[in-house]
Amino acid sequence: MEHLPSHIGIIMDGNGRWAKKRGMPRSFGHSAGAKKFDEIIDFAGNFGIKVVTVYAFSTENWNRPKEEVDALMVLLNDYLENGLKKLAGKDTRVKIIGDMASLPESIRKGIENIEEKTKDGKSMLVQIALNYGGRLEIVSAAKKAAEMVKEGKIDSSDIDEALLSSLMYNPEAGDPDLIIRPSGEYRLSNFLLWGSAYSEFWFSDILWPDFTGDDLIKAIYDYQKRNRRFGGV
Ligand code: IPE
Ligand code: IPE
Ligand code: MG
Repeated sequence: MEHLPSHIGIIMDGNGRWAKKRGMPRSFGHSAGAKKFDEIIDFAGNFGIKVVTVYAFSTENWNRPKEEVDALMVLLNDYLENGLKKLAGKDTRVKIIGDMASLPESIRKGIENIEEKTKDGKSMLVQIALNYGGRLEIVSAAKKAAEMVKEGKIDSSDIDEALLSSLMYNPEAGDPDLIIRPSGEYRLSNFLLWGSAYSEFWFSDILWPDFTGDDLIKAIYDYQKRNRRFGGV
């Protein structure tokens, strides 16, 4: 149990292909993926992982057919309405990261509600990346820095890595130590670009709805065997 990653990022990918293999619509895969999210968050919490960030919907996922986007929004609403019950007695804090401004009002209300009701959770932080894009996050930090210069709070020469880090969506989550991507794709797809500069990566062919606690343990175990040098020797 030593050298556990404190922050794990998970790209929950492969729902559509999982459903297709069963001759079912993609939305069926998304429902299975949402159930899997509950299970793996529970598992990670019991295992002692402090922060988990899951990629639920990217800024590029709006390019999908409307009926698929609608099905995803229904699942999201469902989580925002019922997620609290699932978290009962767990001391977990939920935080949504991403561009909230362009989300429907009902979803924004649901987000405010779950964040407010879980804000004192101490044992685990669950971050849901929603309408999230790593580039957009960096752009939004750059805009905030520009505002600070304009208002005379800082000088442009004060803009450095530490300042930009502090202007990301949720600086207190820290950088992800380990990023897991199932589904056989070997890319970040715009996930946590700033924070992943020195993250370890773990890829697997498993489709997200088939992912298990054992797979999470395998990823953690591989992580523990790695030698993180951060540019040193
Ligand atoms: C991930 O599964 C869920 C979201 C992107 C919302 P996909 O829907 O991308 O599933 P595949 O990659 O097409 O199988
Ligand atoms: C990344 O998966 C986004 C989420 C899992 C939410 P995608 O399925 O959208 O990524 P690409 O298109 O394969 O890169
Ligand atoms: Mg995909």
